[in-house]
This record gives sequence, C-alpha cells and structure tokens, in this order.
Amino acid sequence: MFSTVTLTLSLSIRSIIRAKRCFQHSNPVHAAMHKRLISAFVQNDRYIIVREEDDDDGGDDENGNAMKFPDVWLRDNCRCPQCFHQSSQSRRIDWDKFDIKVKVQDISTDKLEKSIKVKWSDQHSSTYDLEWLRERDFNATRRNKYLTEFYRPKPVHWQKSDFNKVTNVFKFDDVINNDNELKKWLESLAVYGVAIIEESPLQKDVVRRLAERIGFIRKTTYGEEFIVQSKPGAKNYAYLSHPLPLHTDLPYYEYKPSVNILHCMVQSVSKGGSNTLVDAFYIADQMKLNYPNHFKVLTETIVDWNDIGSEDGKSFHNIWRSPVICLDKEGNYTRINHSIPQRDSHFSTDIENVIPWYEAYSKFVQLAREEAAEFKTKPGDVLTFNNIRLLHGRTGYDDTEENIRYVVGAYLDWDIIYSKLRILKSKSGC
Ligand code: OGA
Ligand code: ZN
Ligand code: ZN
Repeated sequence: MFSTVTLTLSLSIRSIIRAKRCFQHSNPVHAAMHKRLISAFVQNDRYIIVREEDDDDGGDDENGNAMKFPDVWLRDNCRCPQCFHQSSQSRRIDWDKFDIKVKVQDISTDKLEKSIKVKWSDQHSSTYDLEWLRERDFNATRRNKYLTEFYRPKPVHWQKSDFNKVTNVFKFDDVINNDNELKKWLESLAVYGVAIIEESPLQKDVVRRLAERIGFIRKTTYGEEFIVQSKPGAKNYAYLSHPLPLHTDLPYYEYKPSVNILHCMVQSVSKGGSNTLVDAFYIADQMKLNYPNHFKVLTETIVDWNDIGSEDGKSFHNIWRSPVICLDKEGNYTRINHSIPQRDSHFSTDIENVIPWYEAYSKFVQLAREEAAEFKTKPGDVLTFNNIRLLHGRTGYDDTEENIRYVVGAYLDWDIIYSKLRILKSKSGC
C-alpha cells in the first residue's frame, strides 16, 4: 500500500524522499498537465516536513507548499482506532504511557500520494491523510483562516452612521425553513452583533421557535421567556415605562447570557418605546485610541454588578465582579459590562481607583450615548443582538390601558449559536 521509499533518522536532515507519482487533481484538465510531487522528511530532529510541488516548478523551491508538524503533535494525533475513537471523534491515546520525546523512525508516502505513513520509536505506526494534514497546517495564514472562517467569524466594529448598513433583515419563515437564511442570520449576529427578523406571527412562542431552531433557550433568574411590559410594582427596572438607559443585560452573571431575542408583539403608539443600540466594541476602540488612560482603567478596575429581587416567589441576590471592558491575552474584547441600575453600591477596589474609574466610565457613557442608533420595532419584528458586545436601551413611553407595549424576550448562548453555525457551514461546504 505504501511506497517502499523510506527515510531513517540516520540520514542527513536534508534527505528527502521524492516519490514522483501522478497526483490526481480534481480538475481533469490540470490532471493531464501537471504532476504533483510529495516529499516527507524529518527536519531538525523534531519536525516533519511534508512538501507538495508541481513537477514543472523544478522541485527546488524549498518553501514550496511545505507543511511542518512537530513529531509529538503528529504522534498525539494518530488517527488509528487504537489512538482515536471514530464514532465519538475523540482522542483515546493512553497518555499515562505517552512519550513526548517520541521520534520518527521511518516515513513514507502512499502510492497515490494521498497520505503519509510514519513508523515511530514507540513501535506504533500512523497514517495521515494529506487533506487532513493540510487542514491542520501550523502555517499562520491557514490557522487564521480556520479561526475566522470556522471557529468564530471575525467581528466587524461599526459606528452609528453604519447602523442601517450592518443591520441585516430576515423573514421569520425563511429563517425557520431555510438553512441558508438561518446561517446568514447567525453570521450577521456573529460579525455585526445585530440582526432583525421581520414578519413573525404575533404569538408568544416565536422566541422559543427561533431559539429551538438553533438549540435551546438560556434560562435565567427571569425564566426562559420573559415579558417586558410596564407592570405596577415592577421587580425589574426594565418593567417600567421609563426610559431605559443603555446597558447590557445580566452583567451580574459570571456566565452572562450571550444573545437577546426581543419579539415585539404590541408596540406603543405613543412617542417613545424605541430601542437604542451601540456597538460597545467600537466605543472601546475609540477609548483605546483617544483616551488610552481611561481605556486602561476600564479594562483593569473590577466593578461589582448585582441584581437583588424575586421572581415567581423565589428570591435572588446575584453578584459578579468584572471590568467594564474585558480583554483576552491577545487584547481582544471578550465582554462589555454596563448597567447603571445593576451596578452595586459595593465597589470592592482600592479607594484610589474609585475617582479615576468614575472619570473613565463617564467618558465611556458619553461616547456610547453619542453613538446610539435609535429605531422603533413594529409588531412582528424580532430584534436580536449580542449582549456581550452591544449596549441596548429603550426610550420612555406613555403606558395607558389603550396604549400598551408588549415584548417577549429570551436569551441564547454563543456556545450553542457557534456550534449551529459550524454545523450549517460543514453541511453547505462553506
Ligand atoms: C430589557 C430591555 C428593551 C425593550 O428588558 O432589559 O432592554 O425594548 N428591554 O423594552
Ligand atoms: Zn495510532
Ligand atoms: Zn435590556
């Protein structure tokens, strides 16, 4: 099954196996004109190089299409049934016996040059499909492609003047019935953090139907579906007809729900009742650029967020401590927290941090207010947005018996949305 050409470690580092056989291109015209040469060899004792080149490029281009893999990574990722459990797609290699100093003893390519075979110093043999290797190449461009096209689409930050351009609109029936429309909705949410679904039925189960089209509703203190309407003795600040200043929902949760779905069933006919939305990643960009000291304060000062109350007779006291702008190790924004009503009067930070934090926060609030896009949903509209990234609010409205506003909400989590997006992409091949 495999070519007899092998390389042993005793050979010099630049030794190459050149297995000159025709590589079957998927394009038949190409197949007639080109041959592809595959070579596999060990470099610097610890790396395996797999090179592919067309035979008409002379074969001397060292950098050609070379892929480079650490030996230990290849051994760890052997795909044989002993090392990998196919039906659960899980590694089963015995790590209690795993030798991280494992070495290549022989390496060869198969007849059709579609795989390479490695014999290891631990006496194990592994076969690696070339296509599988290509998808895991450590090359920075390939890794970036995987991260932005499959892991998570790269967010595009937007300002108020771009709001209409970035807010994609979908039809409820299309999202429910057509996988491609579902994919486009989820992509819009991932890239811009906002999308609107129109023409939904005026029924209370719309948010559930949308959530279950993706996965399932993320339950919170306020239940699975929650009703936003003006209520006497409101237990939540949003359940008033007051203006609702810009905020993220539930900053007082360690695992903050990721995406809000707000289904407008009845809209106030009075002035007001409009929604406001801001891309807080864009605000963070502006702060970083123009107010770097304030930006630093907002990324470093830990704020106490809280929510005290009861729902369905059950009392709760939620607290989570986290900065306004959260960063990962690469400096990417991972989460924005902002809510004037849900900020605790406990501020568990050193006293000298307090006044600088107020200065920085007031700049953030001011910039956010200036960048807030305002629009009014109509019955049947479902506003969906990223609660980790966008700030949202609502203008005040008159609430009377003849003039009510009735919105049904639910949350989704990004883990579930990204998973669905990957399934849809794998199914459609892009
Ligand atoms: C909320 C909220 C928006 C609206 O309930 O937290 O932001 O349109 N509601 O009422
Ligand atoms: Zn194996
Ligand atoms: Zn809200």
